[in-house]
Amino acid sequence: MDQPMERVKTEIDQLREEIERHNYAYHVLAHPVVSDKDYDDLFRKLLTLERKYPQFDDPNSPTRKVGALVIEGFQTVPHSIPMLSLDNTYNETDIREFHGRVARILGKVPFSYLCELKIDGVSFAARFEAGVFVRGISRGNGVEGEDITEHIRRISSFPNRLRRPETLEVRGEIYMPKSSFAAINEQREEEGIALFANPRNAAAGTLRQLDTAAVAKRRLDSFVYHLLDPMRYGLKTQTETLDFFKELGFKTEPHRALCASVEEVIAYWQLWTAKRHGLPFDIDGAVIKVNEFGWYESLGATSHSPRWAIAFKFPAEQKETRVLSVEYSVGRTGVITPVANLAPVSLAGTTVRRASLHNFEYVREKDIRSGDTVVVEKAGDIIPQIVRSVSEKRGGQETILFPPEKCPVCLGPVGKEREEEVAIRCLNPLCSAKLKRSMEIFASRQGMNIEGLGERWIHELVERGLLKELSDLYRLERQQLLAMPRMGEKSVLRLLTEIEGSKKNPLHRLLTGLGIPTVGVKTAKELAAAFKDLNRLKTATAEELCRLDGIGAEMAAAIHGYFQNPAVQRVLDEIEAMGVNTKEPIEQVSERFKGLTFVITGTFEHFTREELRGLIEKNGGKVSESVSKKTNYLLMGENPGSKAQKAAQLNTPIISEAQWQKWFDQE
Ligand code: IVH
Repeated sequence: MDQPMERVKTEIDQLREEIERHNYAYHVLAHPVVSDKDYDDLFRKLLTLERKYPQFDDPNSPTRKVGALVIEGFQTVPHSIPMLSLDNTYNETDIREFHGRVARILGKVPFSYLCELKIDGVSFAARFEAGVFVRGISRGNGVEGEDITEHIRRISSFPNRLRRPETLEVRGEIYMPKSSFAAINEQREEEGIALFANPRNAAAGTLRQLDTAAVAKRRLDSFVYHLLDPMRYGLKTQTETLDFFKELGFKTEPHRALCASVEEVIAYWQLWTAKRHGLPFDIDGAVIKVNEFGWYESLGATSHSPRWAIAFKFPAEQKETRVLSVEYSVGRTGVITPVANLAPVSLAGTTVRRASLHNFEYVREKDIRSGDTVVVEKAGDIIPQIVRSVSEKRGGQETILFPPEKCPVCLGPVGKEREEEVAIRCLNPLCSAKLKRSMEIFASRQGMNIEGLGERWIHELVERGLLKELSDLYRLERQQLLAMPRMGEKSVLRLLTEIEGSKKNPLHRLLTGLGIPTVGVKTAKELAAAFKDLNRLKTATAEELCRLDGIGAEMAAAIHGYFQNPAVQRVLDEIEAMGVNTKEPIEQVSERFKGLTFVITGTFEHFTREELRGLIEKNGGKVSESVSKKTNYLLMGENPGSKAQKAAQLNTPIISEAQWQKWFDQE
């Protein structure tokens, strides 16, 4: 290396080290020593240098915490030693029994317990070589898991480089803080996509995404609590190990307690049973570990759990209340769901008034009746569930709930769509409840965004027979609207202008508004960006859909199935005939790629393929799927497929990600 280059490398190394020090102070010690602005300045400086000198790239650079990277799939990796789980206990008797066994085996030797909180997340293993993070693995089946290295790299509090050059493997828990969970579900609700049931599911879902940037966006966090082969590092107890972790730069959960007796263990568990809701993350119990490693061998392990530790779980918070009435609600796809109205009770921090009874199988199995006294609890401390009915408290006034024989709304026929389904649906394609739900989704803010067309007007318009299907919206006339109660000239004009204006919406709004199964705002945008035109999307095969980022086989099948439905095809034709735009516009920013055709292959560090396609198209270029003589450039990322070979055969110029970035930066 010549001298100036060496200086650059030193500067990059120093910046990385300094930023890592600040990350440690902020995330682990919770004592930031610089202002946000100074931190941002350092970060930007490093980012600029790294972009300029890609030869000094390092996958563990602190800048990677924010960089996007889409992986192609998950590799299976064997665990170095199996990841065991723990036996569960739920009460004092069980914990005394555990203690009795430990004391019997250890005889007269003195020992203590270290009590830790049991973080309700997803467990993982992480390997470091000479202090550098090299691999992260999910628990999987305990024997082998999935390679989640890139996901873990993006957890801001996780040290990609240790403060000492140790080679070791740690285990811990990845979790989503309650605040991030609430924010994500709020957003999902707005987007009309299924909510995560609890923070653990949300964390697991995030780790399954191929787009690793989601980890940073959804603010996952981690604690480590277990070290493989601790004696190798001169550690004799779990207490010392947790201190060792802290010295190395890991985040450890601070509320641990060293207990000399089983009474103290029970007191710890009782304390946290009461205080758990005040923590910023979910816990589902305490983990009780013999503190001294010297006794582990004699305590041994069964095939699935060690005998030196046990999980002491919290009971779910439960309350009794009464089912006041049961409503049958009809959803967009006709599914009829029984919903219980409850006498209000406060439970784990909120007042519960309603609980879904899911379906009629569930009602029958649990024998839940209207008027029953029932036990409710919150699943994952979030969604209220009826656990059981208290039949001893029945007075004879309760009514058994039968599946409806006709649709509670349109009185049309009901049945199952497929034999194996538990859901009972209204089979009338013209059912007004289904139509109303579809209309609401169509007009919603994220959909066609027709302001003023809310639940109330949709109800009126459907009841008056003015709306029988989606396209009727574009057939509404001034006179018809004026004849409705509380509708003046002004509001009619405003509504008609809104409806007319919605015809110009880009395709992704139409796709969101159609309420295609599994398609929320994000997927609608992806579909629109990729296909540009409803007519191309309609004829896309499931394989083509599957090729898009974020669309798996199940989603692809659902979307494909939707467009195959003749009733859907008719509605779409009608909507198009009414003059509704079915194309996604490309906003043109330059013509620099005019006349050039690109093919994109492989994965990229700083872009998704869709983003690259967008950039090319915005600048006047074309992107095609396969390499041919007409291809001007192959834009190639990591792990390219057969397209790279084809390009080599045809002598097509190949551009790397670094070259592409340079190309863009210089203009
Ligand atoms: S120790 C050999 N400590 O609970 C087992 N586990 O049911 C070492 N967990 O799979 C596990 N917090 O995912 C341990 N402080 C903690 C924990 C903890 C959460 C999870 C972990 C484990 C499961 C056991």
